[in-house]
This record gives sequence, C-alpha cells and structure tokens, in this order.
Amino acid sequence: MEFNIALVKGDGIGPEIVDSAVRVLEKVGEKFGHKFNFTPYLAGGAAIDEYGIPLPEETITGCKNSDSVLLGAVGGPKWDTLPGEIRPEKALLGLRAALGLFTNLRPAKIYPALKGACTLRPDIVENGFDLVIVRELTGGIYFGERGRREGIYGEEAYDTEAYSVMEVERIAHVAYKTAQKRRGNVVSIDKANVLESSRLWREIVHKVGEQYPGVTCTDMLVDNAAMQLVRDPSRFDVIVTSNMFGDILSDEASQITGSIGLLASASLGDGKCGLYEPIHGSAPDIAGQNKANPIATILSAAMMLRYSFELGAEADAIENAVNKVLEDGLRTADILVGDDKALTCTEMTDEIISRL
Ligand code: IPM
Ligand code: MG
Repeated sequence: MEFNIALVKGDGIGPEIVDSAVRVLEKVGEKFGHKFNFTPYLAGGAAIDEYGIPLPEETITGCKNSDSVLLGAVGGPKWDTLPGEIRPEKALLGLRAALGLFTNLRPAKIYPALKGACTLRPDIVENGFDLVIVRELTGGIYFGERGRREGIYGEEAYDTEAYSVMEVERIAHVAYKTAQKRRGNVVSIDKANVLESSRLWREIVHKVGEQYPGVTCTDMLVDNAAMQLVRDPSRFDVIVTSNMFGDILSDEASQITGSIGLLASASLGDGKCGLYEPIHGSAPDIAGQNKANPIATILSAAMMLRYSFELGAEADAIENAVNKVLEDGLRTADILVGDDKALTCTEMTDEIISRL
C-alpha cells in the first residue's frame, strides 16, 4: 500500500526525532512492502522564522491533504516572548482544530525492563500499570474565550472553560469504545465539586455510558486523580478527561513510566487522517546534540500505522523492536540508571531498526 505522510518536524529536538521515526517507517515499508511518501511542512518557531507566523496556510492544506501527520515538537526560548497569537504553540492548537482532531490518545504503561527508571516506590512499580488517557483536544479552556479587561483591582486576564454537550458526547463515546477493547473500565476525571462545565461533563459521560453496558464508569475529581496516579496507577484502565486536565495528567502519567521520552500520542477526529506526536516538548536544552530519546516519536509512528493505516502487524513490529532494545539494556540518557553508557538518538534508532 502507499501512504502520504506530512512531516512537521518543528523546533528543538523535533527534526532529530522525526528523522529517526522516518528511518524506522522506511524500514517497515521495505519489510512489509509499503511505500511511504514524506512531505515536510513548517510549523512553530521554524515557521515564525521563515514566514512570521506559526502556522502557514500551506502547512494546514498539506496536512489536510495527507493520509496522516507526524509531528516532532514546537516551541523554544527564542519565541517565548512573542504574543500568544503568534507563539509556536499556536501552530499545534491550530492544526488540531483545523484537522478536527478532538480525541487525543495517550497510552502510558510500565515496561518491565524500565522498572528501575520509574520514580515510584518498588512495591508500587511491581504491580505494573497499563492505562490510556483519552484527552479531549479541541475544546475547553484551550479554545474558550480569553482576554484582558479592567476588573475591580485594575487590569485582569481571563480564560474560559466551556464544553458543549456534543463535545462531551463524542469524546465519551471514544472512551467507552476504547475501554471495550481493553479492560472495560473508564474513570472520568473532572472538578465537578467546583466547575459547572465539569458538572455537565459528568452528566453527559454517564448518559453516554448507558449505551455501553459492558463498561463501568466511575468519576474522580482531578486533584484526587493526580494523587491516585502516583499512589496506585494500576487501578486505571481508560481515563477520559478535558483538554487541560488531560494535558497535566498525561505528563504525570509519563513520568511514572520512567521517562516522558517514551510516550507516544495519537490525535484523531472523525476521519482516518490523524496527527501523531510524542507527548514531550522540543527540549531546547539538548537540541542538535543527538542526545534525544527517539522512542516516543517512533512509537507515535507505530500508532499512525495502527490507527490511521490499519497496519496492525507493522505497528506490532515497531513496538516489539522497542521492547527488545529496552530488554537488551540499551538506553538513551533520559532513561539511564547508574553509569551505563548512553546511546545517541541515531544509535538508538539504528538499534531499533536492526531489531525490526
Ligand atoms: C501537549 C503540549 C501542548 C498542549 C502545548 C505545547 C500547547 O503540552 O501536547 O501536551 O498543551 O496541548
Ligand atoms: Mg502537555
């Protein structure tokens, strides 16, 4: 089969990790007889430098017309002082909105070989965990009305959290369907003891749940959830939550897997075209040094094969190769324990490719 993939390498370590994933995809294509065509597009700081805006029209059109998008990371100190509307992050939000990608799947599990890199107590790590965060991605406070105004204490700024019934319904369906294919257990996370938007969220999530009798759904307040995630992550199967809570909790979930450098994500809408990216950022401190961990991006490419191209066996092959490198004790700097030698980004990629 043949697929057109838009590459948005972005900033910082973005180009290095996307190049790694491309090499892995090329090898998979060779092995399984597929052709992947890659077209690069600028977004984020790279686009600001070139065009003065973070998300050029050409990038939006190119991504829309592709079979899927593979993205590295955007942002960096160079662009941190720009006004909100033209910050690099705006590119990511704009792409998610333009492509209608309202679902963000962020799986987090502990690799047996990496138990030593986990920051939790050994007895908690021993239980293992395997969860997926279903984060709503095109609504909530990220996209609500915001601005500055004169308040009673002088100038103030505001951002609004708003969710429509439709937005909650569609993400709830995704969560229940995801749970049906897993252990049948959804935890919906909100702040319903304070926020009206959360009360609507809770109501709708349960209403949708009536259509999924085989799946259980319990509610959890976000502060408690943040605590339960480090107390006993094994209790979670599918977490469904709003855009901002999902952003925060997925970083927490990633850290307890050993490193944020391992977590992949898929952003999906109604169609087949998705956006696949590591959940970590552009790591400007190590950019261009060939030190980054390419695994999160390589696993994001595997998710692309699975979710957008329906190439399950090919996705399995990548995931197995990643498992093998970890079991063989190979480590990039972020997951190094003790004084083993750290592999560079390209060395780690070579090792994964050789195990495909
Ligand atoms: C993420 C990131 C983004 C987000 C930023 C870069 C806008 O943190 O994908 O988790 O907040 O969604
Ligand atoms: Mg984040």
